[in-house]
Amino acid sequence: MTYLQEEQGNIVTADQVDKIGSITPDFSLSGKLAVITGASTGIGKEIARAFAAAGAEIIVTARTESKLIELKNEVENDGGKCEILVNDITLVDQIQQLADFVRKKLSSEDKDLVLVNNAGFGFTKPIVEVTQEDFDLITSTHLRGTFFCCQKIGEIMLERGYGKIINLGSTWGYTTDAKKAPYCMAKAGVAHMTRAISTEWAPAGIRVNTLAPTGTVTEFTQKTWASMPERAQGILSRIKLGRFAYPTDHLGAAIFLASNASDFITGQTIYVDGGFTAAG
Ligand SMILES: NC(=O)c1ccc[n+]([C@@H]2O[C@H](COP(=O)([O-])OP(=O)(O)OC[C@H]3O[C@@H](n4cnc5c(N)ncnc54)[C@H](OP(=O)(O)O)[C@@H]3O)[C@@H](O)[C@H]2O)c1
Repeated sequence: MTYLQEEQGNIVTADQVDKIGSITPDFSLSGKLAVITGASTGIGKEIARAFAAAGAEIIVTARTESKLIELKNEVENDGGKCEILVNDITLVDQIQQLADFVRKKLSSEDKDLVLVNNAGFGFTKPIVEVTQEDFDLITSTHLRGTFFCCQKIGEIMLERGYGKIINLGSTWGYTTDAKKAPYCMAKAGVAHMTRAISTEWAPAGIRVNTLAPTGTVTEFTQKTWASMPERAQGILSRIKLGRFAYPTDHLGAAIFLASNASDFITGQTIYVDGGFTAAG
């Protein structure tokens, strides 16, 4: 206490020092309203289930209504609260509809808002075969979609003076591989977008971070890797813990970034990658 006061010329008062930190960090998500995009399958679905189990009320979105209904039923059977909105994040007017839905929800209940920008997809193609349609879809999903979800739902956080945004990045946003150029570029953009938004919005109390998985077993990747076993082996050889990730491997980091326990962390990328990026 004395040390801080002397070193910083009384910038921190003794009273404030007494209030700083707690030895029991709060990982609970009760009192939070969490919006999770791309929650119909894969990593997003597991994040949605985990957030509901940790006490959050959730709003889940994707383009496939039947899968969202299945998830809603499952969460509600377990005693959680879940709303669904069918939504395509490549369409900015549909992102606005999502923001309107969230704003209406918060007009009748006072909850801290969390946004997980998870919706996404990837493809594996040599650069010379990438079409303009491929390029536009990957950028309109990962870059434009993520940006406008941040903007429109972030506006509600700005009004409330607090919020948490978690953007799904990738180890391919840090390192690269052949036939992944547009995806690598888009995910690097997501990580840097995160930093830029965090800088502008930190003074307003909004924390923005990237959660970056390595190769994770989902229905989609299982099919892709089955059709390209050499490629799957190549990725696996770079994961130093010796196995692919499962969606559940990402839940600890996701809950941490959504909870008050991470309130002094913003602008970061947390790699959940079994040592992939450390090895280069
Ligand atoms: N699996 C991996 O190895 C891995 C590794 C690193 C990063 N990631 C990232 O993690 C995130 C989730 O990936 P995943 O593996 O869980 O994929 P996934 O199982 O294919 O799920 C993707 C989700 O995004 C939704 N989605 C896709 N495009 C959408 C759009 N335009 N609008 C709204 N929703 C859309 C899909 O639902 P609908 O089709 O119903 O819309 C689905 O719910 C992505 O951002 C991905 O890039 C994945």
